[in-house]
Amino acid sequence: MSSYKSDSSPRSSVLKKNIESPKTPGEKFFPPFEVTKELEAEAKKRIAQYPAEQKRSAVLPLLHEVQHRHGFISPESIEWVASKLDIAPIKVVEVVTFYPGFRQKAPGKIHFRVCRTLSCAMGGSYELMEKLCELTKIDRSGASHGDAISVSPCGEFSVEFAECLASCGTAPVCLVNDDFHEGVTADKAQNLIDSYKDS
Ligand code: FES
Repeated sequence: MSSYKSDSSPRSSVLKKNIESPKTPGEKFFPPFEVTKELEAEAKKRIAQYPAEQKRSAVLPLLHEVQHRHGFISPESIEWVASKLDIAPIKVVEVVTFYPGFRQKAPGKIHFRVCRTLSCAMGGSYELMEKLCELTKIDRSGASHGDAISVSPCGEFSVEFAECLASCGTAPVCLVNDDFHEGVTADKAQNLIDSYKDS
């Protein structure tokens, strides 16, 4: 693990604020971040794909690897990625906070990303979101641009709005974990949820 330590300078307080991972009930479905032999081997392979003087370019593949294994990007994983690439943790935070695909807190076991861009909005994606929340008992009232994911009390489900998912002709669309679903109107929400239960 990296020996990164925070200090009290103004710069590090920005880092601290942006590096935090609020606890969610979804954490029980993901293994905590750990630097395993497998993760080290995967990192070595990914870093080797770039010239030695450009190894910082492996930041995206490493973050994807962490999120794939652990569900989200924790402060510990940010420090680990920074140490692997010999860059400051704030540089990793900049990437994590720029791309909405990276999560800084645990989602549910079943994560819904509902497109809210024009075609989908007109096709009923806001109604779909409302129905998903109603059926999974998710309270989205605290959702914001910086904290887009809302998790159900049981931790099994989570939702967030996404921007155009590039299938505007089949609106409304959503992603469930890595699966793409088209034409998902609110009346199909229950069936969609049921198809992932016990998965
Ligand atoms: S607007 Fe939803 S996929 Fe493009």
